[in-house]
Amino acid sequence: MTNTVRRKLAVLVSGGGSNLQALIDATKCGVINGEIAVVISSSKDAYAIRRAQDNGIDTCVAARADFGCAEERDGYIVSVLENYKPDYVITAGYLGIITPSFVSRYRNRIVNIHPSLLPLHGGKGMYGIEPHRAAINSGDKRSGATVHFVDEGTDTGAIIMQRSVEIEDGDTPESLQKKILDNIEHPMLVECVAHLCAGRVEVKPDGTVVIKD
Ligand code: GRF
Repeated sequence: MTNTVRRKLAVLVSGGGSNLQALIDATKCGVINGEIAVVISSSKDAYAIRRAQDNGIDTCVAARADFGCAEERDGYIVSVLENYKPDYVITAGYLGIITPSFVSRYRNRIVNIHPSLLPLHGGKGMYGIEPHRAAINSGDKRSGATVHFVDEGTDTGAIIMQRSVEIEDGDTPESLQKKILDNIEHPMLVECVAHLCAGRVEVKPDGTVVIKD
């Protein structure tokens, strides 16, 4: 049976917030049965903050430079989250690493979107244009995006959904990035979060994920 309770979301961002905007739009029109309670940014200059404020969503900045170490920063983020009690935390274009204590506090409740077909082109340093450059330099014929749960590794958690597009002759890292962001990332992130909020995402005992009808 699917869940009908409106779920609470927190979204972690670092930049323009186009994925955040897709989530805002989908919660407003009811495609996602949830509300974004708070947006936490790793940068005070992120346009994502403006998008949140324009939609009446609480915001908070947790810049790495303001904390002694990543654990301290994540301790602060977790303390902010405790005030909102989100069901799920979505990292959408978030450039911070999630530390183990944060992961264990929200096990199987933190979801990331990564712009490659993981396990290809993931891990440290693989953000921004880099996964797309790597896909083209490797001679891959397809690339795409992956939505996955966050675990203690970098881009290693259980995969929830993947979609791909063809890498065409003449594609550049930039054209591939745009193609994937517009055609895959935004709709797929919305679809996954809608499934999560509806209670349709099941983590099996072996750690793999199924989406129930
Ligand atoms: C893009 O690099 C995308 O591939 C990655 O996050 C960036 C988009 O950020 N997942 P945003 O959602 O527009 O802030």
